[in-house]
Amino acid sequence: MILMKDIIRENNPILHCKSQDVQIPLSPEDEKALKDMIEYLFNSQDEKLQEKYGLRAGVGLAAPQIGLNKKMLVILAYDEKGNSYFLPMVNPKLISYSEELTYLESGEGCLSVDREVKGYVHRPRRVSVDTYLYDKGQLNHVRLRLKNYIAIVFQHEYDHLNGILFVDRIKKDDPFYIPKNSTPIKFENDDE
Ligand code: NI
Repeated sequence: MILMKDIIRENNPILHCKSQDVQIPLSPEDEKALKDMIEYLFNSQDEKLQEKYGLRAGVGLAAPQIGLNKKMLVILAYDEKGNSYFLPMVNPKLISYSEELTYLESGEGCLSVDREVKGYVHRPRRVSVDTYLYDKGQLNHVRLRLKNYIAIVFQHEYDHLNGILFVDRIKKDDPFYIPKNSTPIKFENDDE
């Protein structure tokens, strides 16, 4: 199983490289890697396992973060309305995106970035994605339309496949800059 020591950190060149397409059908090695990534996210969100193994909770993981420059990523997250998403993607391709932008008021975090980085990351609010989804050993080709929080998580992970970290997207000279066409994600059950 993947532990924090196996997660590649931001100074490693692997995180700054473009990833390659994955061969389909998946080789046993690639399928194992994808399953390990899935397992990490589930474990990291389980309070007991989190504590037992010292895991940092994650809502997404991309293959470069475990040292593989291959186009695979996994999302395991609840959206702003509390709907759950489990999306293990192989060879995802961003097809289109909205002009309208959004961002997280709390900023983004990353299992590969140990320091806290302040600032907003503005991303298209809606995206269309062509991808294979992994489900019980099968790969199904689909086109997904993702919005709001899940679109942010997707784009964060997709960036990893292009060698980009969220810190690279924060305006250096004005980290809390808000463009006119960007509004924050509103979470339901937000007590603030
Ligand atoms: Ni990340």
